[in-house]
Amino acid sequence: MAEFEPRVFSGVQPTGNLHLGNYLGALVRFVELQDRFSCIYCVVDLHAITQAVNIWGGPSELTRAIREVTAAFLASGIDPQKHIVFNQSQVAEHAELAWVFNCVARMGWLNRMTQFKEKAGKNRENASVGLFAYPNLMAADILAYRATHVPVGEDQKQHLELTRDIAQKFNIDFAESIAENGHGDAFFPLTEPLITGPATRVMSLRDGTKKMSKSDPSDYSRINLTDDADMIAQKIRKARTDPEPLPGEVDGLEHRAEAANLVGIFAALDGRTPADVLGEYGGGQFSTFKVALAELATTKLAPINDEMRRLLADPGHIDKVLNDGAQRARAIAAPVMAAVKDIVGLRPHGG
Ligand code: TRP
Repeated sequence: MAEFEPRVFSGVQPTGNLHLGNYLGALVRFVELQDRFSCIYCVVDLHAITQAVNIWGGPSELTRAIREVTAAFLASGIDPQKHIVFNQSQVAEHAELAWVFNCVARMGWLNRMTQFKEKAGKNRENASVGLFAYPNLMAADILAYRATHVPVGEDQKQHLELTRDIAQKFNIDFAESIAENGHGDAFFPLTEPLITGPATRVMSLRDGTKKMSKSDPSDYSRINLTDDADMIAQKIRKARTDPEPLPGEVDGLEHRAEAANLVGIFAALDGRTPADVLGEYGGGQFSTFKVALAELATTKLAPINDEMRRLLADPGHIDKVLNDGAQRARAIAAPVMAAVKDIVGLRPHGG
């Protein structure tokens, strides 16, 4: 198959507050990948509006959240000059390519998407058409840049498989035209997911069996990236534990979800293995461990928190970063969309 230039694309929805799970599971990974790939990081605002208005909070909340996710990208260490940071709705090619993909993907494929079933809940008739077609827009996000690698959590694996199915069906359905237009034997790459492992899966501080989530009604279940040092320390102090001391070995964390979570968070924040952390704190009480964890968490997160506040105090600057990123994103996506039109036969067109 044709060779594609390596490129990373990933997206984060601007809904609710970003928390420690997003940071350790996604943002840290995004930052690392900058050394090895040319990266595009997108605030996927068109995806945010697929759910009911009361879930994403309405127009002013959406605008605020777009800027907050952007600030979190920058504060975590994403370089918007070397790489590209922008919001999806500014680059019309995403929606345009998504329409073509609406005509490539099959109803049966989308009917199998577990995230749609979860998000739509019992009342599927009342879900938006956008929520059903969400995976097609996600495929368009990725393939508008012909991205080869996408860092995502385990929960997005199925959407990445669908993206590959769409790419493959397009490549096959239009094979002749793709060749005639000078693109060889494939126009879209079969994108590889870079799945973030369970080690970076951060669980709720109130229930170690549930994922840390922005939709949990208890704010004590998560550490928000906008929480200050006092708040972080308080949340860790109140985090649920069990009555036993910490085990000396990783095996001892089995069936102790809360202990495993706190040890995992410590390890991820400090760039160590859980075994190493238990080597130091195993056999000790949670009270001692929590003090150390609170100190570590505030030390690591305070600079990000401070930088986010500084950035959010100047929304004009954030908007400039997004506008500049959108312009550069468009420069890549527009020729891809024009080529898609040629391949499909949507001629003449201005691209
Ligand atoms: N669906 C992703 C999520 O909920 C967000 C997303 C949208 C995305 N478009 C993307 C992730 C493209 C990776 C690539 O997390």
